Amino acid sequence: MKDIVNEAYKVALEARKNAHAPYSKFHVGSAIKVKGHDELFPGCNVENASYGATICAERNSIIGAVARLGKVEIEFVVVACDTNPVTVPCALCLQVMSEFTKPDTPIHLGDLESVKKTVHFGDLLPMPFNTLDC
Ligand code: THU
Repeated sequence: MKDIVNEAYKVALEARKNAHAPYSKFHVGSAIKVKGHDELFPGCNVENASYGATICAERNSIIGAVARLGKVEIEFVVVACDTNPVTVPCALCLQVMSEFTKPDTPIHLGDLESVKKTVHFGDLLPMPFNTLDC
């Protein structure tokens, strides 16, 4: 695994410690790397008593990157969770990712030990909702 992916995995694992998940107790960490920038953007899930206002780790990372840099192209995503098999981003997060990814963008999926599986964005969401190409 590339050094930068391992570094991002560690960022995701560290962010997971900050997960606010008193309702589900399901703690997720993430990190994204965007093209042209060295900074890695951490994310964790932040739940809410309303449940519906909960934000997933992956969207937290993406929003952080956009808030900091504006227009971004995601180079890769890392998700860290304590599940076996590894957890994949939910459909809502994939739809948000679709604004900033390409079908071949790598999504690295890890447990608490390391990245265990890598898939491409297009494998997970082959046909995102998109009004710009209509
Ligand atoms: N969760 C994430 O953070 N990422 C995902 O891709 C799947 C789900 C969070 C949301 C909620 O806080 C908890 O996991 C259980 O669904």
